[in-house]
Amino acid sequence: PALTPVPARATVTEDTAGFGKIILFGEHSVVYGYHAIAAPIGLSIRAQVTRREEAGSDLIIPGFDSADSADSDLPVRIAALITERLGIRGSGMRIEVFPNLPRASGLGASAALAVAIIRAMASCFDIPLTGREVSALAFECEQIVHGTPSGIDNTVATFGQPILFRKANGARDAEFSIVTAPHPIPIIIGITGVRSLTARTVSIVRTVWTKSPSRYDAIFEQIDGLALTGVGALERGDLAELGDLMNINHGLLNALQVSSPELEALVALARRSGALGAKLTGGGGGGAMIAIAEPDRTNAVATAMRLAGYTTYLTEISAATAPSASGP
Ligand code: MEV
Repeated sequence: PALTPVPARATVTEDTAGFGKIILFGEHSVVYGYHAIAAPIGLSIRAQVTRREEAGSDLIIPGFDSADSADSDLPVRIAALITERLGIRGSGMRIEVFPNLPRASGLGASAALAVAIIRAMASCFDIPLTGREVSALAFECEQIVHGTPSGIDNTVATFGQPILFRKANGARDAEFSIVTAPHPIPIIIGITGVRSLTARTVSIVRTVWTKSPSRYDAIFEQIDGLALTGVGALERGDLAELGDLMNINHGLLNALQVSSPELEALVALARRSGALGAKLTGGGGGGAMIAIAEPDRTNAVATAMRLAGYTTYLTEISAATAPSASGP
């Protein structure tokens, strides 16, 4: 396992990248129309599309082992939907994907993949697209991946900015605003190594919510409050408050039954090593967690996690206000 410091904003700023993300507050409840905060991380997926004479497309993803997952034909289905929507179905092309983001880890790889392919195809075939259009098409791809996405992953994958997000009826109408911090806020990302498909945990939550909607709506409402309080904490750069809110959000996610033994172990380890707060991030059930610590403790927390055998990444929530290549 490597400790890989990465810059907050993806170093890849060319227009064919899709950004990976962390959710700071509000995963799962965001699917039910409550607020969530997400931020891009310095890991992304890039794609490159080149035309060729022969009709049809080849999709090349280095390191993608199609034999080991239930979603083996997903990239092909995503690429097919995009060619259809962009009106270039049947055109001869070679699509190469350069993933720099672990799959099935809760870091938004499927949305980043869709955004990267959309941008690379649009760029190759000279199709002008606004950020909103890229995001809306990536949302359709996310529907193939996990049925009822909130739209938060495709929004961050497209715009590459920290956002407060609330879903509306469709991706085009999603409400989101950019949140800025007064200084970069360091975040430690811990990977459990247990692959987890968001579709599965979203369906776990759907099952319990369907049985007792009012009981679970009450939990979602509490999480909504944490996300809204979190905006102020981020804007003030208040690490202690953010940590507290993250700890409570993790407890509520545990109540939704989307934590796992590995996530609990990592969260406990981070807190024991001095983190101000820690929580699972994304779909849960495995995947990734995040922790926040005072800047002079950040490396110690990451090192403790790494020594325990987990892969960690350091990222930061950026204070930058400049929009990405194609901003809202
Ligand atoms: C996945 O990154 C976040 C979830 O809330 C699902 C979604 O918002 O679509 C679990």
